[in-house]
Amino acid sequence: MQKNDEREGTVISVGMNGEGVLKDDGKVVFVSFSLPGEKIRYKVLKVDGNIAYGKVLEVCTPAEDRVRPKCPVFGKCGGCQLQHVKYPDQLKIKQEKVKTCFSKIAFSELKINPCVKSKNEYRYRNKLQLPVSVDAFGNTITGFYADNSHRIVPIEDCPINAPWTADAIKAFKEYFKIAGVCGYDEKTGRGDIREITVKDVKGSLIFTVVSVKDELKNADILIDILKKHFTCEFSLFFNVNKSTGNVIYGEKFKLLYGSKTFSSDMLGVKYAAGVKSFMQVNDYVCAKLYGTVCDLACADENTVVIDAYSGAGLMTAMLAVRAKKAVGIEIEPEAVRLANELALNNGLSQKISNYLGKCEEIMSDIIKKEVLDGDKTVLVLDPPRKGCDLKVIDAVIKSGIEKIIYVSCKPSTLARDVGLITGTLQWGENGVKKAENPILRYRVDSVTPFDMFPQTKHVETVVSLTKNKV
Ligand SMILES: C[S@@+](CC[C@H](N)C(=O)[O-])C[C@H]1O[C@@H](n2cnc3c(N)ncnc32)[C@H](O)[C@@H]1O
Repeated sequence: MQKNDEREGTVISVGMNGEGVLKDDGKVVFVSFSLPGEKIRYKVLKVDGNIAYGKVLEVCTPAEDRVRPKCPVFGKCGGCQLQHVKYPDQLKIKQEKVKTCFSKIAFSELKINPCVKSKNEYRYRNKLQLPVSVDAFGNTITGFYADNSHRIVPIEDCPINAPWTADAIKAFKEYFKIAGVCGYDEKTGRGDIREITVKDVKGSLIFTVVSVKDELKNADILIDILKKHFTCEFSLFFNVNKSTGNVIYGEKFKLLYGSKTFSSDMLGVKYAAGVKSFMQVNDYVCAKLYGTVCDLACADENTVVIDAYSGAGLMTAMLAVRAKKAVGIEIEPEAVRLANELALNNGLSQKISNYLGKCEEIMSDIIKKEVLDGDKTVLVLDPPRKGCDLKVIDAVIKSGIEKIIYVSCKPSTLARDVGLITGTLQWGENGVKKAENPILRYRVDSVTPFDMFPQTKHVETVVSLTKNKV
C-alpha cells in the first residue's frame, strides 16, 4: 500500500474519532466518514508503519445507519464527524468509545450505561465561536477550521449552533464591509479581527469581538447593526489578543454595550453568566448531567461536597442545596466572583465557600481545612480536557475520600485518571503504566456517557467511584 493508491475495502469498526476502520494489505486503515459494514473505495492519504489513513472516494454499499448530513460543508469543516450517522447509532458509537478507552487505557473492563441523549440533535449549541481571517484574494471570511488546521472553511450558518447563527454571521459581514474592518491574516500579520464569539444565556446574547488591534473601529456602527438584527437583549465586548498561540481571548475585556452578565436558572438555581465564565454548550443535557451528579453524590445534612474545577459555581450550588456544605475550587477569578454572587442570590452563602486557585496547589489543604471529623465527604472533579494534574490525583488518593464523582469531556484522560485513582494504573519515571497485581483503592459504581455534543465525536461522561474497604 502506498500514498495516493486507490483501493477497496470493507469497514469493520469505528475508531476513536468516529472514523471507519478497516484492514487492508496487513495494515489498519482509518477512513473518515465511513461506517461498519460499508464496502468503500478509498484513496490512501498517508502510510505510517502498520497504520494508514484514507479518504472515501465512493461508498459502494451504504450501511443501514447512514443518513444524509444536514450541513453543506460536512466533511470539509472540522466541527462535526458524525452527521452521516443515524442519531441512535451515534449514541452507541459514543458508549463504545468510552468502553474502549477504559479497556485500552485503564485496563478496566467496565459496564457502560447507555449514552443519555440530547433533546435536540441539531441547533443545540448555546455558544458560537467563529474564527475570522482573509482568503487568498484578501476578502474577509468567517467560518470554522478544517480538521487539524488553521484553514477557515467559510460558512453562512451552522446546523448544530443556535437558530440565530445565520443572523449573527450576516450582521458581522455587514459590519466588516461598512466599517472597512478586515479579518486577521496569521501569515502576514495584517488585518484586525481574529475571532467572534456569541454566548446565549436563556435568550440574551453576549457578543465578543477579538482583535489584534487596541481599538475596535466604528464600534457604534456594529452596535447599530446588531440592534437591527437582534431584538433580544444583548451585550458587546471587545477583547485584544495579540498572542500567536491558539488561545482565543487575551487578558482584558472591554464592555462596549449592554450588561456585563445575564441571568438564567437551572434545576431551581439562579445564576449569572458572564463573558469568561465556562458554560456547558447544551443546556438540556447539562441539566441532566448536573442532576445525575447531585443524585450520585447522595449528599445529606452531614455531607461536605468538594467541587473541584467549579467554574461559575452552578453545580456547587445544586450540591449545596442538599448538603451540609459545598466547597468550590476554581482558577478563574471572574468565575469565582460569579460563584459567590450565585451563592448569595440563592440564599446559600452560609453553605458555600468558593476558593480561587489551582486545584493542584490548594485542594489538599482545603480538604483538610473544610472537612471536620465526622463529616461525610464527597469529591466532584470536573477538569478541562487535559484531565487532572498528577498532584490532584495524589491529593485525592491521600485524602481517602469515600465517594468521588468524576465529570469529563475527554474519555481518554478520564480513563487515565480513573485508572490512577483506582490503582489499575501507576505512574513512574516514564509516565503512566499498568500496575502489576493492583489492590484497588476504589471501585467504579457507574459510568454514564452524556451526548452533550450531537453530530460530533465528543462525549461527556460521569463516573461514580466508592472507596474500597481494604
Ligand atoms: C470543564 S469546566 C467545569 C466547570 C463547572 N464544573 C461547570 O460545570 O460549569 C473546568 C473548569 O476548571 C477551571 N480550571 C482549569 N484548570 C484549573 C485548575 N488547575 N485549577 C482549578 N480550576 C481550573 C476552568 O476555568 C473551568 O471553569
